[in-house]
Amino acid sequence: MKPDMRVRLCGLELRNPVIAASGTFGYGIEFEEILSLDKIGGFVTKGLSREPMPGNEAPRIIETASGMINAIGLQNMGVAAFLAEKLPALRRYSGTACIANVFGYTVDDYLAVIEQLNTADGIAAYELNASCPNTRHGGLIFGADPTQLAELVVRAKRLATRPLIVKLSPNVTSIAQMARVAEAAGADALSLVNTFVSLAIDVKSRRPRIANITGGLSGPAIKPIAVRMVWEAAKAVKIPVIGMGGITTPEDAVEFLLAGATAVEIGTASYADPRAVERLAKGLETWCSGNHVERVSELTGGLRME
Ligand SMILES: Cc1cc2nc3c(=O)[nH]c(=O)nc-3n(C[C@H](O)[C@H](O)[C@H](O)COP(=O)(O)O)c2cc1C
Repeated sequence: MKPDMRVRLCGLELRNPVIAASGTFGYGIEFEEILSLDKIGGFVTKGLSREPMPGNEAPRIIETASGMINAIGLQNMGVAAFLAEKLPALRRYSGTACIANVFGYTVDDYLAVIEQLNTADGIAAYELNASCPNTRHGGLIFGADPTQLAELVVRAKRLATRPLIVKLSPNVTSIAQMARVAEAAGADALSLVNTFVSLAIDVKSRRPRIANITGGLSGPAIKPIAVRMVWEAAKAVKIPVIGMGGITTPEDAVEFLLAGATAVEIGTASYADPRAVERLAKGLETWCSGNHVERVSELTGGLRME
């Protein structure tokens, strides 16, 4: 029996629930030669800003016991260059959801990016990275303050001509509260988790190992925390949730689905194995066949408590 791997997500139909995560898959097209883009559910672009950004100084990525810390500083080519240089070639893969990740340091920055994305064909949805510091309001991240998160989402939703996925920061006390705030403000779906703020110290030099001092922890180390947060968020809202954080095996993906996710994103695993997203899409299908799961969508929220 071949399982039905399709999932529906805020008006999109994905061929399978496995999506490459932002910042770990370039702008998508760079992976065309490495894996079959038409075998994965979709991909999220590197975060796009209104102007190109050079990012932080090196070292900006280090390996940890079970993952990595990065402080890339949201280096990217800017939204206009993405539309001109990357998007045209991506239109060949129309059955694969191209999701544009959007960020800014003020609400107006975010809106300027969305305005430009609205003009182009070939983008399935927007993923709003709410883990950015709001430079207008003392650098506190949008996703850590309910009022700022609500304002960002309300205004982005008003402008967006495509489904709006709000990517939540895990660096909060109550993820359920933030999930509810984003839903009430008009989010069509949520994605979580982004990376956890962390610090690694070189004990010889006694200096931070990352030039930016702190960075974001991702990879297998964060998986159980991420699964817990996806479970809490999914219980709190009616809109679909995309889960991520440390997925490296098909069973990891199943855990997120059972916790309440409709789809999953794969980030750090692509650093160890550039074909990880395709391997996991295939692996999840094999897992479903082997476990008599006819439709992958039936796994969503299937966690048993009795
Ligand atoms: C090098 C690197 C760059 C990232 N850049 C972005 C980004 O631009 N926008 C964003 O929303 N998330 C970004 N992320 C976060 C990932 O998309 C993902 O949320 C996180 O790494 C957790 O998943 P994982 O453990 O599978 O990597 C980045 C992660 C890494 C490791």
